[in-house]
Amino acid sequence: MMRRVTTIAELRDQLRRWRQADQHIALVPTMGNLHAGHYALVDAAVASADQVVVSVFVNPTQFGPKEDFARYPRTLDADAEGLQQHGCGLMFCPDVATMYPAAALGQASVNVQVPGLSEILCGQSRPGHFDGVTTVVTKLLNLVQPDLALFGQKDYQQWLLIRQLVSDLHLPVALQRVATVRAASGLALSSRNQYLSAAERETAAEIFRTLETMRAAVASGRPSALVEMAAAERLQAIGFQVDYVAIRSADRLQVLPETASEPLIGLIAARLGATRLIDNLLF
Ligand code: PAF
Repeated sequence: MMRRVTTIAELRDQLRRWRQADQHIALVPTMGNLHAGHYALVDAAVASADQVVVSVFVNPTQFGPKEDFARYPRTLDADAEGLQQHGCGLMFCPDVATMYPAAALGQASVNVQVPGLSEILCGQSRPGHFDGVTTVVTKLLNLVQPDLALFGQKDYQQWLLIRQLVSDLHLPVALQRVATVRAASGLALSSRNQYLSAAERETAAEIFRTLETMRAAVASGRPSALVEMAAAERLQAIGFQVDYVAIRSADRLQVLPETASEPLIGLIAARLGATRLIDNLLF
């Protein structure tokens, strides 16, 4: 039977019992409203560890003042049912005051920043977003102290930031990246897809098709800058407001000279109406 807890004391109580029994523990951090993409992370966690903790916390510090924090979908009961079915042992659903005790006392909170990687691409259009992510992920890793933590490839920049955070702060946790789960149309699953109309959902699938076209163009030797430009124009022509279309090094998200032979990744962030969508493809 899965336990669902909200306090740090309850979380620690369960973790202590598991550790006493020598159980390996995996953590899947989420913001809830779970879909098949999240459950792929939970399934991978269940396959690698004895016990799986899933945190469900809509983290206010990673939302900008004009973003969708208030209306972000919260579906705790449905999430609990799905997690139970997928073999999660402990669902941790803290409130904001539990996660940010200093702020709850009216004090400034400690903030964890990963300079360099956090200001580019999504960090440029969402200032402060990644500081919120790296701060809350540090808190969750400290609270759970898992042997393994799993994150999705869809948030590729987030994945690289967390990898650097764990390495630079010497956090004793292994990390696993899990492939993006897609609808039959190719659209990457995301809680924000719910904001899309049926017609917008069809258009949204063009993001992944565009990434595939970009990969083929780069493989055939077209210069990255031209490929990026053509892709952005195409997305604009079908109704997207493009945040960025970028071809970067897969390990640091740097712009590389055309002659470089390092692995590349294509990344897109674009808005359909008020909904911001992201996706990426390793080339
Ligand atoms: O990827 C997410 O859902 C969030 O950014 C995370 C890692 C749970 C931190 O709030």
